[in-house]
Order: sequence, then C-alpha cells, then structure tokens
Amino acid sequence: MGKVVIFEHPMITHKLTLMRCKETGAKDFRNLLSEISMLMAYEITRDLPLENVEIETPLCKTTCKKVSGKKMAIVPILRAGLGMVDGFLSIVPVAKVGHIGLYRDPDTHLPVEYYFKMPPDIADRTVILLDPMLATGGSASAAIDCLKARGCTDIMLMNLVAAPEGIERVQNNHPDVGIYVAAVDERLNEHCYILPGLGDAGDRLFGTK
Ligand code: PRP
Ligand code: URA
Repeated sequence: MGKVVIFEHPMITHKLTLMRCKETGAKDFRNLLSEISMLMAYEITRDLPLENVEIETPLCKTTCKKVSGKKMAIVPILRAGLGMVDGFLSIVPVAKVGHIGLYRDPDTHLPVEYYFKMPPDIADRTVILLDPMLATGGSASAAIDCLKARGCTDIMLMNLVAAPEGIERVQNNHPDVGIYVAAVDERLNEHCYILPGLGDAGDRLFGTK
C-alpha cells in the first residue's frame, strides 16, 4: 500500500482555507496555490539525500554538502496542475517540466488524454505529478499509467485536496506511488466533486466560469 502524507503545516492549512472560500477570486486563488505549492515542495524534498563536495570559499577550502541522487522532474496535469509549477520551481529550479493533458468527461467522469510531452530522460528521473485535486483518482491513475508506460519507476503524487475515494483508487492501482497532500476531505458528491473541497480548480484558477 502506497503511503499517504498530509502536510499539516499551519501556513499551508491557513492558505488552503482562503482558497476554499467562494469569495476568493482568480488572482488570489492563483497566488495562494503557488505559495502552497512552494511550501509543499519544501516539505516533499525534506528527505533528499546529500553528498559531500569540496568547495573553496573566499577564505579557504572546505567540505560542504549538496543534494545528490536522481534528478527531478515535475509533471503538472493540465489544466489546474499548471498553477503548482512556479511555486515548486522556486524550491527546485533545476527540475525539468513535463506536461500531461487530461480532462474529466462531464458525464462519465472518466479522464480523456489530449496531450503528453516529457523531457527525453524522464525514465531516469524522480517524477512528481502535480494536480490540486484528487477526486475519483481517475486522472491521477491514468497519468501514472502514462508515465510508467514511458519507463518511469520513481513517481510521487502531490495534491492539494484529496477525497478518500481518490486516495483508495491510486493506492489500489499504484501501490508504489506515495501521495502527498495538504488535506483529505470528507467525500465526493453525486457529480464526483470533492466535499467540502474548493470547487472546480481549473475554472477558479483561470476564471473560466
Ligand atoms: C480536475 C482536476 C483533476 C481532476 C480530478 O481537472 O484538476 O485533474 O479533475 O478528478 P478525478 O480525480 O476524478 O479524475 P478537470 O478534469 O476538471 O480538467 P481541467 O483542469 O482541464 O478543468
Ligand atoms: N475536479 C475539481 O477541480 N474539483 C473537484 O472537486 C473534483 C474534480
């Protein structure tokens, strides 16, 4: 069973509350998503390995540490995952960025793929899949299927808000993938929206409704 980590940092929780409010407009929603993504990137990279490096300061030679191990790639699921990219890159500026285009069919709620573009060495990288919402888990599962089909073996999923149903689906389909979230909400409604949730993340981010 893949692990689930909830980042319960007070500033993440506070900013998420502001995002949930229906009065919060697109500009503030975008800024808050970016800020939370930066804080989550800080938390998700907490256990990265370090290695010794010899450097020279202006005064002398010394041994310091720098991040080692696999290179990273982030992969936002379009559209709403785009709102997490800049915040994440502010912590890990050297990460490469792939894109997966998926939308949920409004009737079946099943994901439909329309775009896939990855860095050529994606299979050699630690991949962090970004999407604010994990509802039924269909989109995340399909995105992970696509990444595994391209040879990726080291995948993490980072969401803002998850429904228990989505977590269960990803854990069943992809037990090797850890899930990192800011909150686990109560349940899905009859339209497969997360309750209490924050509404349609893509529409709120881009002002399309
Ligand atoms: C939203 C969200 C996820 C998906 C989650 O995207 O950003 O990708 O729904 O739902 P699921 O877990 O049930 O698959 P949406 O399909 O609304 O596409 P959009 O971002 O292009 O609006
Ligand atoms: N997609 C969203 O943007 N919000 C939800 O609550 C569910 C799916």
